[in-house]
Amino acid sequence: MAFAKGLLLVALVSLLAHSTNAQLFPNFYGARCPNLQSIVRSVMSQTVAQDPSMGASILRLFFHDCFVNGCDASVLLDDTATFQGEKNAGPNAGSLRGFQVIDAIKSRVDAACGGVVSCADILALAARDGVNLLGGPSWTVLLGRRDSRTASFSAANSNLPSPSSSFNTLVSIFASKGLSIRDLTALSGAHTVGQARCTNFRSHIYNDPNVNPSFSGARRNMCPQSGGDGNLAPLDFQSPNRFDNGYFQNIMNRAGLLHSDQELFNNTSADIFVRVYSRNSAVFATDFVSAILKMGNISPLTGTNGEIRVNCRKTN
Ligand code: HEM
Ligand SMILES: *[C@@H]1O[C@H](CO)[C@@H](O)[C@H](O)[C@H]1NC(C)=O
Ligand SMILES: *[C@@H]1O[C@H](CO)[C@@H](O)[C@H](O)[C@H]1NC(C)=O
Repeated sequence: MAFAKGLLLVALVSLLAHSTNAQLFPNFYGARCPNLQSIVRSVMSQTVAQDPSMGASILRLFFHDCFVNGCDASVLLDDTATFQGEKNAGPNAGSLRGFQVIDAIKSRVDAACGGVVSCADILALAARDGVNLLGGPSWTVLLGRRDSRTASFSAANSNLPSPSSSFNTLVSIFASKGLSIRDLTALSGAHTVGQARCTNFRSHIYNDPNVNPSFSGARRNMCPQSGGDGNLAPLDFQSPNRFDNGYFQNIMNRAGLLHSDQELFNNTSADIFVRVYSRNSAVFATDFVSAILKMGNISPLTGTNGEIRVNCRKTN
């Protein structure tokens, strides 16, 4: 009896702990779109098989959606006469890609289910599949987000971290989204896949003290002091298309590509997590999943708020 009461208490406490986003749940679409997950998975597997780098790009789209007024597909909206969208904001312009993949998934899903699934949920599922198809963990995506009717150029400029951000700035940006230093460190492990442009790492490889000379030498060769702004380098030089813990080994070797990456192993309270993740990819996977679930819960539109877009690039 005491045991049963204890169990009930545990169940209640865990219910309360998660009650902030009780609106989102895995089976939200249920019978209205039974094949949703297999459609998303199938388009993502074809896409990643053709171009593995797209797995990373879709993951980044999800991050840039969630950090700007919540996971509401605002990042997918084109500019209109009434608002300037997020696509041309500093962190996004000339850099975000994968919009046509989301469009392709949306049209397959709508053909099967008749326009009930939001672009925001499609992005959350596609990001999960991107990670998993590149060899990373999988997780159960909570669903039920609706799509915004607007986007914010200024919020995209102010809410997204910059590659030149200091450790303290990264911590406070993530804290403002309810994410801890542990979440910041685990989520930054997303930089185990994908690429960055010279313009975003030039100052780090030429000016920062905490850089491995053989690493900066190799990067300087393809990223000159002036010119070549768009030249690409892998965020994890060991395995840019493999979602592993190589990123953490790199930053321990002072071979992080971005200043913001190297800030996570520079005598701060993040060092402990970097050490653990670099040694133990299972702990990294567990913490990454827990953190991306929190990220996916940032201020969703639910109930009758927002809309289910017909075209992910335009409001209805
Ligand atoms: C901690 C603060 C972060 C900063 C300052 C940052 C900054 C950047 C920058 C500057 C790039 C390269 C863009 C370019 O040169 O065009 C990039 C790429 C990327 N970021 Fe982050 N990022 C951060 C956190 C995250 C998080 C939390 C995620 C996802 C969970 C993420 C996922 C990615 C991915 C996958 C790429 C590669 C994209 C591609 O190859 O298309 N980043 N990030
Ligand atoms: C690391 O810390 C040093 C000393 O506090 C600082 O000068 C440097 O900018 C920090 N970051 C990097 C990436 O070197
Ligand atoms: C951290 O601080 C120690 C002691 O001050 C110093 O020897 C070491 O080089 C620093 N490490 C980094 C990564 O800045």
